[in-house]
Amino acid sequence: MIPTNQKHKTTILVTGGAGYIGSNAVLALERKGYKVVILDNLVYGHRDIVTTVLQAKLWVGDINDRSLLAKLFKTYNIAAVIHFAAYAYVGESVTNPEKYYRNNVVGTINLLDAMLTAGVKNFVFSSTCATYGIPKTMPIAETHPQNPINAYGTSKLTVEKILHDYNQAYDLKSVIFRYFNAAGADPTGILGEDHIPETHLIPLVLLTALGRRDYIKIFGTDYPTADGTCVRDYIHVSDLADAHILGLEYLLQGGNTATFNLGNGHGFSVKEVIETVQLVTGIKIPRLEAPRRPGDPPILVGSSRLVKKILDWQPQYSDLSQIITHAWNWHQKRHQNTHKNKIEEFVTS
Ligand SMILES: NC(=O)c1ccc[n+]([C@@H]2O[C@H](COP(=O)([O-])OP(=O)(O)OC[C@H]3O[C@@H](n4cnc5c(N)ncnc54)[C@H](O)[C@@H]3O)[C@@H](O)[C@H]2O)c1
Repeated sequence: MIPTNQKHKTTILVTGGAGYIGSNAVLALERKGYKVVILDNLVYGHRDIVTTVLQAKLWVGDINDRSLLAKLFKTYNIAAVIHFAAYAYVGESVTNPEKYYRNNVVGTINLLDAMLTAGVKNFVFSSTCATYGIPKTMPIAETHPQNPINAYGTSKLTVEKILHDYNQAYDLKSVIFRYFNAAGADPTGILGEDHIPETHLIPLVLLTALGRRDYIKIFGTDYPTADGTCVRDYIHVSDLADAHILGLEYLLQGGNTATFNLGNGHGFSVKEVIETVQLVTGIKIPRLEAPRRPGDPPILVGSSRLVKKILDWQPQYSDLSQIITHAWNWHQKRHQNTHKNKIEEFVTS
């Protein structure tokens, strides 16, 4: 709900705003009083979430549709673009890189060109820790070398480079956020994660708790970590959304192009996640131990010191059990009427 004492009347275009992180960011923008227009082709987004929870205008369309983009920028006086729209399935990007370069790179160039034509010069971009590849040092800082090991990571790194070139050539200013693993749901329970197919650990464990999956597969139990399973950095989606507002306001106040990691700063192992889900839900989770997957680094934890220092970002929900509690509340509501077969059909574990 937008508070009545609206702070701004500024219009922000959010691409991918019907997706997981995008919809949570739109909610955060609306709570701050921004007007939002969403552009989403609904390939993975959810129309019902936009129409029932958010106030934003939804344009169902594609960032690759240049005439639609031109029309959209003519219709609204847009102050900035927050760009979430992308494909983000790492495995698929390896087998079908063309799809990823076309959507994530070419689509982004179309969007940037439409912005420049309309004179819009503020851009917030969803990049990823996948641009770092196999990390050499931990926690990973923004200065860590970027050597992605899949087309998804390369597509995001390519856009990062394009954004630096567009800054120099056309004065288009960007905030580039490299996220670690987004997780959790809005604390009020009205928005959360619903990827189809779902490949992220926390929702998969929660779907197992709900009986929508028979077991959770653990890929590798012989990693050089405390309990032998992979360690990842889970950042609460509401903290992520708040960072986007800070990034946006930094640009609106004249900030220069900048890049920040967005992570929790703490790592949690696969087994810790499963055990925390058991504690939160009171449900025993069946597990199946499987061999390691190629390309999974043992530990991925980001340093968010820079974003805290420069944007004064103060995450509220770093605690894993809180992240899982919020996700659990959402999952119970969202999936109470879905059928096991429907979910299993899509899962790629
Ligand atoms: N979820 C994570 O943990 C994570 C981590 C790092 C980076 N990211 C990045 O964050 C962004 C959002 O991720 P998410 O988890 O919310 O994914 P999501 O799939 O839930 O959201 C992406 C949205 O973009 C839309 N979209 C895709 N291509 C489009 C196009 N060509 N035109 C219009 N709309 C299009 C989809 O329909 C979807 O609603 C992505 O760019 C992703 O690469 C996510």
